[in-house]
Amino acid sequence: MTLISKHFAVIGQPIKHSLSPHIHLLFAKQFELLIDYKKVEVNRETLLNRLDKFKSKKYSGLNVTLPLKHDAYLLCQELSEKSKLCESVNTISIKDNQFHGDTTDGIGLIRDLTRKGINLNQARILLVGAGGAANAVIADLIECSPSELHLTNRTIEKSMVMETHWKNFAEKNSVSLNISGNHGVDSSNYDVIINATSAGFSSNISPIEDILVNKKTYCYDMTYGMETPFMKQAIKLNATVFDGLGMLIEQAAESFHIWHKEKPETNKIKSELKLLKLI
Ligand code: ATR
Repeated sequence: MTLISKHFAVIGQPIKHSLSPHIHLLFAKQFELLIDYKKVEVNRETLLNRLDKFKSKKYSGLNVTLPLKHDAYLLCQELSEKSKLCESVNTISIKDNQFHGDTTDGIGLIRDLTRKGINLNQARILLVGAGGAANAVIADLIECSPSELHLTNRTIEKSMVMETHWKNFAEKNSVSLNISGNHGVDSSNYDVIINATSAGFSSNISPIEDILVNKKTYCYDMTYGMETPFMKQAIKLNATVFDGLGMLIEQAAESFHIWHKEKPETNKIKSELKLLKLI
């Protein structure tokens, strides 16, 4: 066992149920790395102060989760190109007394979809939600060259803001970007529907209408740890359904790669988490 004890943490609010420490420790075991990874409850008001504390305690890196990803983007001294585009940071590396921000959510989603055999090239995608979660993954979705990316959200004004922000990037990648409110989506067949809303936590109604889902649709919910109304709807309509656990594992793998320059094996993590009775 190599005795390099580096310190990491995942920060956010709430944080109690985060699986990130377990996933990173399972990755570290693959390379016989001895790391320490904590979960620390941090709110938006105290983020700056807490970041400075992590720096003075010589932490090497932090994962950032809700509701801090945009604030972390504003506070990092250096940012990856993807973080600048998405205005979101979920991975901080602390080097030379500075915070370097990156975002691995988009790559995590795409890798998980790819693993599941879902090819986004020329696909018609419906992305539901226009908050931080949707904005963190849209760049990577566009880079997969879908034939259409349709954005829908309960509050259409937020989809409009999103469209304005992403229009040029979509155009550059020859992707047709359209928007509508939750009840204005046409009923034409989407190959993939991605739920990036937090609706599952607050409502027992799916954010989309039944007519959008059929047995050929891949329905992906970025939420994990619960069967959301969107997932229940997709099951009822015989679609293929996935939760966001695979995305969580893949985004963690990319964070791990940024910090340790090693690419962990992600195949067995789900079964290892099950063995540990964590899922
Ligand atoms: P996050 O960072 O998780 O995306 P957020 O920025 O607060 O959090 O965005 C939450 C998203 O979930 C928004 O798109 C929100 O829709 P509104 O813009 O209309 O608020 C969506 N959302 C939350 N609860 C919802 C519900 N019950 N039905 C439909 N959409 C919901």
